[in-house]
Parts: sequence; C-alpha cells; structure tokens
Amino acid sequence: MINEKVQDVLNAQINKEFYSAYLYLAMSAFFDEIGLYGFSNWTKVQAREEVDHGMILFDYIIERDGIVNLTQIDAPDRAFENPLQVFEKIYEHEKYVTESINCVASMSEDECDLATRHFINWYISEQVEEEANALDVIKKLKMFGDECTSLYHLDKEMGERQYKAHSYKI
Ligand code: FEO
Repeated sequence: MINEKVQDVLNAQINKEFYSAYLYLAMSAFFDEIGLYGFSNWTKVQAREEVDHGMILFDYIIERDGIVNLTQIDAPDRAFENPLQVFEKIYEHEKYVTESINCVASMSEDECDLATRHFINWYISEQVEEEANALDVIKKLKMFGDECTSLYHLDKEMGERQYKAHSYKI
C-alpha cells in the first residue's frame, strides 16, 4: 500500500507530465505552421515521451495498490515566436519539472517510502537528459541565429529524432 502523501504528489506529477505532452504538442503545431517540420517532429516525439512518463507513474500507483486521481489538464500557453524562444520555454519548463521530481524524491524520503524513492531515480536521470537536450538546441540556435541555411540543416537533423517507447519496471 502506498503512502497517501506520496500518492498525492505522484498524482500531481501525472498531471504535470500530461500537461508537458500538451505543451510539446502545441509547440509541434506552431512549428508545422511556420514550415519547420523537423522541429515539429522533435517536439511531437517529446510529447509522446511525456505521455509515457505519465503512464509509468499511473502504472506504478496501481502496482502499489494506490488510487490514480486524474485531474484537469490546463491548456498550454501558445505565445510562440521563433525556435529559440520556444526552446528557451522548453528549458524553463523542464527545470520546473526537475524541481517537481525532486519534491517527489524528498517527500518519499520524508515518508520513508523507499520503493518510491528508488522508483523516482529513473525520472531524476531522465530530467538531466531532458534539460541537456533543450540546452543543446538553444546553443545551436544561438550560434547560428536566423541564418537560413543553418536553420534548414538543423531542421533536417531535428526531423531524424525517432520515438522509442519509455518503460520502467521497479
Ligand atoms: Fe517528463 Fe519533460 O518531463
């Protein structure tokens, strides 16, 4: 049986992961609208990964004989301007998610729920990768600016990202 306080923060985390999927999908639509189909692919793949993150939490709560509480998902902000601004938003958002995952880790430690503390390590590592991925694109965009040829090649590179289902078993 899962600790109730831990269950609450895990349920809140499910909502944040599905919100993340919504946010990345809104970004994907923006990139489609401006003709950057590789960037659109990259953010769409990320949206699918976010759904996986939510589903892994969902399955974990069930496995621990807990109660999944799905709450309303906010509409994402759609004030997008250009690739650099979008990736700066992504970086800020992922830092926020990292903080949230760290809170789940602290809560599970405070409540002596060592299974959840162990489980959440996967998310801690995942967040290191997600922040680094966003920062990598920001650095490239800052280096190349709006130079069309570079943006064209970067868009092609972003188009190569492929979805791989994320799964986790404690
Ligand atoms: Fe599931 Fe991008 O954090």
